Amino acid sequence: MTAERIVAGSADADDEPFETSLRPRRLGEYIGQNKVKDNLQIAITAAQQRNEPLDHVLLYGPPGLGKTTLANIIAAEMGVSVRTTSGPAIERPGDLAAILTNLQQDDVLFIDEVHRLARAVEEILYPAMEDWALDLVLGKGPGARSMRLALPRFTLIGATTRYAMMSPPLRDRFGSVYRLDFYDQDAITQIVERSARLLEVSVDEGGTTEIARRSRGTPRVANRLLKRVRDYAQVMADGAVTTEIAGEALSRLEIDALGLDEVDHKVLTTIIEKFNGGPVGLDTIAAAISEEADTIMDVYEPYLLQLGFLHRTPRGRVATKAAYEHLGIAPHGGASSGQPSLFN
Ligand SMILES: Nc1ncnc2c1ncn2[C@@H]1O[C@H](COP(=O)(O)OP(=O)(O)OP(=O)(O)O)[C@@H](O)[C@H]1O
Ligand SMILES: [Mg+2]
Repeated sequence: MTAERIVAGSADADDEPFETSLRPRRLGEYIGQNKVKDNLQIAITAAQQRNEPLDHVLLYGPPGLGKTTLANIIAAEMGVSVRTTSGPAIERPGDLAAILTNLQQDDVLFIDEVHRLARAVEEILYPAMEDWALDLVLGKGPGARSMRLALPRFTLIGATTRYAMMSPPLRDRFGSVYRLDFYDQDAITQIVERSARLLEVSVDEGGTTEIARRSRGTPRVANRLLKRVRDYAQVMADGAVTTEIAGEALSRLEIDALGLDEVDHKVLTTIIEKFNGGPVGLDTIAAAISEEADTIMDVYEPYLLQLGFLHRTPRGRVATKAAYEHLGIAPHGGASSGQPSLFN
């Protein structure tokens, strides 16, 4: 189903080369998330003044908001190298031990999807994070001995879209935890402007606004929409992105005025039409629209919650009045008389 979802916050293979070129390298270039940036700047400056590595940092928030970008920026600001891996990539404790013993003093170790670390691997991480130590057990049975090896000091940066799935002992070992939020219109507009400049796309203010308001407060989506609109402008017009061209291109991609696509609409109409507005369990919704429950929870729901179209209750998901209004469905079932066009 998720063959090619243009407004997904999660990355697909096409994003990669393009993202690398657009990724801000320094804190000063990182737009928005001002509170996070301010706190990080203070922590970085303080650590540098003390000549210590930065405390371990946990970054969490929905896909595409800039966690990986920020991890790399932190390393750049600290003037250290970054070694990148991910929770599922570290299969055995020995894999992590090898990574840890190969770090250089003060390096950043970035573990993406840190909530997916295996339990046995996590246990190696605890003393490493607390004491820069690696505990080895030599031999088996009654003769087994344990030995402690010193590791270089390092900073662990963990990123996750699923804070709740992390084990509490791991969470507790991060000195600072930053939550990234969806960007406001002003910040996302600046991101579209910056990316257009870097890609040398000519886009006027109206075109920028048109792209920004359908970007779901997500830089990755903003960049992806910009790329699609650029293609459209090049083929269908003279390459310049105006309000009209952007509007046409985005309507053609079936993204509505708020950045919702067909799957978002399906989630909402399923709750409304099949389950009378809810509450209905996530698994039931997933089965009804043939999507994975995890995908709905990570990829679709955060923005619908943010818009106030969906509420999570102990008994399941509920569609709100705002959702009915956006879809042009009357609260008691049937469609309202004047169906507004969703794609304008
Ligand atoms: N604050 C920002 N300013 C400008 N561009 C940004 C910003 N944050 C992210 N981006 C852009 O958005 C893209 C996606 O960001 P990034 O890969 O860091 O997201 P992520 O949170 O790590 O996503 P995932 O959860 O899928 O790993 C980046 O390539 C970058 O171009
Ligand atoms: Mg990432």
